[in-house]
Amino acid sequence: MTEEKMLKVEKIRRGTVIDHIPVGRAFKVLKILKISTDPGVTVSIAIHVKSKKMGLKDVVKIEDRILDSSELNKIALIAEGGTITIVEDYSVIKKFVVKLPDIITGILKCSNARCVSNTESVIKPSFTLLSKNPLSIKCHYCEREMETDEIMDSIL
Ligand code: CTP
Ligand code: ZN
Repeated sequence: MTEEKMLKVEKIRRGTVIDHIPVGRAFKVLKILKISTDPGVTVSIAIHVKSKKMGLKDVVKIEDRILDSSELNKIALIAEGGTITIVEDYSVIKKFVVKLPDIITGILKCSNARCVSNTESVIKPSFTLLSKNPLSIKCHYCEREMETDEIMDSIL
């Protein structure tokens, strides 16, 4: 199939594929998953790949790693609508679309330095999702509204 011709990075034996990441955001994904140059972690990154669905996209494949729910919610902030594929023995065993919850708790900080969620360590930052596209959220505590660029810089 033409799909095969377009394959830019190798299939993986076991691990997680994060596909349909908005173009340019692969590095943000690596950062929030704390992927570094530590030995023992195999990661493939494809940037500016042609996609039928979205024009251009980024793809990240992490071998031998399964993401937890907090990591998946962070991915949803960066790549809402992206696809997570779990691979075992070269086969797809699970595939789902990442979705942001209506209430987003504990994964990003409020951009208002005086917000009680920043000044009181016992208070977890929490936001209501106002809109997915363009991304917009509102702090529960100070009602500060945050949009894409600010959100990308505030992910914990
Ligand atoms: N994948 C992988 N290694 C495997 C199996 C799948 O890296 N052993 C990757 C594929 O390259 C693709 C994603 O996991 O990026 C989803 O795989 P699959 O469902 O087989 O691909 P498609 O049908 O092409 O899915 P999509 O339409 O989501 O691109
Ligand atoms: Zn706030």
